[in-house]
Amino acid sequence: MNTNQSQQSPSGDPITGWWTEAVIYQIYPRSFADSNGDGIGDLPGITSRLDHLAELGVDAVWLSPFYPSPQADAGYDVADYRDVDPLFGGLPDADKLIGEAHARGLRVIVDLVPNHTSSAHRWFTAALAAPAGSPERARYIFRDGRGPDGEQPPNDWQSVFGGPAWTRVVEPDGRPGQWYLHLFDTGQPDLNWDNPEIRAEFLDVLRFWLDRGVDGFRVDVAHGLIKQADLADWQEPQEILSGNEGDRPRPPMWDQDGVHEIYRDWRRVLDGYPGERVLVAEAWVEPAERLARYVRPDEMHQAFNFEYLLASWTAPAQYAVITRSLEATDAVGAPTTWVLSNHDVVRHASRLGLPVGTPRPNGIGIGDPQPDGVLGLRRARAATLLMLALPGSAYLYQGEELGLPEHTTMPDEARQDPTWARSGHTQRGRDGCRVPIPWEADAPSYGFGPTDASWLPQPATWAEYALDRQRDVPGSTYEMYRTALRLRHEHGLGHGTLRWRESGDTVLTFDNGVLTVLTNFGESPVPLPSGAQVLHSSAPLTGDGAVGTDVTVWYRG
Ligand code: NOJ
Ligand code: CA
Repeated sequence: MNTNQSQQSPSGDPITGWWTEAVIYQIYPRSFADSNGDGIGDLPGITSRLDHLAELGVDAVWLSPFYPSPQADAGYDVADYRDVDPLFGGLPDADKLIGEAHARGLRVIVDLVPNHTSSAHRWFTAALAAPAGSPERARYIFRDGRGPDGEQPPNDWQSVFGGPAWTRVVEPDGRPGQWYLHLFDTGQPDLNWDNPEIRAEFLDVLRFWLDRGVDGFRVDVAHGLIKQADLADWQEPQEILSGNEGDRPRPPMWDQDGVHEIYRDWRRVLDGYPGERVLVAEAWVEPAERLARYVRPDEMHQAFNFEYLLASWTAPAQYAVITRSLEATDAVGAPTTWVLSNHDVVRHASRLGLPVGTPRPNGIGIGDPQPDGVLGLRRARAATLLMLALPGSAYLYQGEELGLPEHTTMPDEARQDPTWARSGHTQRGRDGCRVPIPWEADAPSYGFGPTDASWLPQPATWAEYALDRQRDVPGSTYEMYRTALRLRHEHGLGHGTLRWRESGDTVLTFDNGVLTVLTNFGESPVPLPSGAQVLHSSAPLTGDGAVGTDVTVWYRG
């Protein structure tokens, strides 16, 4: 093992900046905290719970969208990029949240959705009212259909949520007319990024939020903005998680080279502001070398590492993905990022409770094979301690600090993710990871809000996960996270250097600074070296001091 990975620029200088080693906590506003009891989380609710995040020890929050939206895709369908949906509050509430977060030393990253608007955006309304070939239509991707009367879609692209990626419009004269492209829901028409007006508008939107004090942007579908000019057919179904895997040809809608120019323009805007504002790419792009292009020095600062999220829970798979990730980002001088859960995937406390090698489920429901909850949580805790010891920046998703599982038995009638309907009820989708989180075991809606209301049903078994059942309880998942974040900070793990010691079939061991990290994926307990001083572990050691199955230990010596 000759890998000795540190976070350095190609010139050898260490990369610096708060974001290079930050732990960033994703807030899904609908489901974090509800201040007014309508069952939907909101900005004042978030502000009221910021002390929790400061106490947990994270560096920043990323807020999923809170902009005006018909909520066809839970807010990823934006009708106005410069306002707050009344569901979540108003601009003064956003200002207050940003100010209160900063007062606690927490940075604030907001979500930017540039690939598509909502169909309720004034631009799309204008496009529908205007004729084919008009400047209003040129802001989106309108095309004539195929076939004698244009009754077939312009190409065979599929929507990520299922069904065709094109919808035919009714022209102002009442006749069926052109089609518009939507890689996601029909309510999310794709913008035409070849149009300079779109580029100018988003530069202005960036400034709007930068002027309000945000520390950065998480950029939705960053790999989708530019489409191959000929919109060539592409027979394959789309998946939210797959950009381009392996050696297959690159799909005509993802990861086109033209996207990079856009991010260079954005970077110039951010660099004009004080305080290290950042861009984070949500780009489902593989392999890691291709993803690394998004974080070249004059582009974005970070990109989510979904290859890591998707890696199997085996020592060889984890070794390979960690090594590849560090090498790919080192090559372009960017920090590596790590993530195990977000609002689009089955929570890792449940995902890891499925048999190793199970294909990634797009939601789990009644009737599906159910995860082993105990095993899932044990592995999730081990995976988290492994992740938080790695150099680079890590993302946490609200509720994972409570060991929260996926809601895997949600009644199908309660589902809201458009995936469920658009896939013809074959893909359950993402509702199970978006359930409002529990704060107080004995309060209505587990303290999510002042009433019982909750926009997705909370399982009856969630009292045990509530924050107030875990705070100050030794060994609780919450205290495990808190200790890990404190030690990570004290030992500078985020800007450390990873040196592998052992990468066998069942055990991984590496050093990061003075700390040694060992994860046992195998069935037999692994003894620690004599004199090892254990600083942290994801589960108690065995009676004779060895590391049990699915356990990560941080030790010295
Ligand atoms: C990625 C977001 O994370 C997801 O929730 C959303 O549905 C799609 N982009 C479309 O905006
Ligand atoms: Ca509310």
